[in-house]
Amino acid sequence: MAEHSIEAGLSADCLPNHIAVIMDGNGRWAKAKGKARVFGHKAGVEAVRKTVSTANRLGIKALTLFAFSSENWRRPEAEVSLLMELFMTVLSREVKRLHKNNIRLRIIGDTTRFSGRLQEKIATAEALTADNTGMVLNVAANYGGQWDILEAAKQLAQRAVDNGLDISELTEQDLESGLSTYGLPDVDLLIRTSGECRISNFMLWQTAYAELYFTEQHWPDFDETSLMNAVAWFVTRERRFGCTGEQIQALLK
Ligand code: IPE
Ligand code: IPE
Ligand code: MG
Repeated sequence: MAEHSIEAGLSADCLPNHIAVIMDGNGRWAKAKGKARVFGHKAGVEAVRKTVSTANRLGIKALTLFAFSSENWRRPEAEVSLLMELFMTVLSREVKRLHKNNIRLRIIGDTTRFSGRLQEKIATAEALTADNTGMVLNVAANYGGQWDILEAAKQLAQRAVDNGLDISELTEQDLESGLSTYGLPDVDLLIRTSGECRISNFMLWQTAYAELYFTEQHWPDFDETSLMNAVAWFVTRERRFGCTGEQIQALLK
């Protein structure tokens, strides 16, 4: 992919409001170095740190990182345990730094399957940063896009029953209000590393009009320049939302 420069002149309203990242390729990165997969996951933490700080410096409103999917429980038990441990450690270690930077941390996904200890850590971290007014950082853990939509549908069905709502009158906004990302802008830019070109059950609703950016880089190699390149690529896209290119050009004049 061509290098893009994001130097002077880029106005803030060209930037994506919400960036979501499928952090993929830790295992392959480690394997290429003759190491165990675990080594890749540990190295991936540094890429998380760089991505969060760069997005924050750019003034991005929301950043969502896919850390563990609802399907990742299918991995060998040892790898799942390691990922949980890593999650615990990173959460404890990094939350103060997030707080200092005015970042609001939220864990999205079905956290009820996590250990009591981890659930407590999550609650403490979210509470500490709850009133921060800067970037929202969502970490998707035991997250699935279909789960998210189903939960929203269940909430809406309950409201319809309780309040005798007219089903034919329900709107997309009614469903949206039950999603884990309610209140945040839709995803503008979805990044997936390590060459895979699929969504893997990530934010299915929220990425309806996202620009999709795939890079061959493995997640542990993803750094400030990688994110800048993705954002610079995004800025060059013409987003049509169903209109024609001519209509969009006319609007811009
Ligand atoms: C992404 O890297 C991290 C998680 C899914 C937790 P992978 O572990 O999927 O790495 P590959 O795809 O096997 O290389
Ligand atoms: C998606 O990556 C989940 C995360 C990045 C956490 P996977 O590597 O698990 O996805 P698949 O299984 O290759 O689609
Ligand atoms: Mg993978």
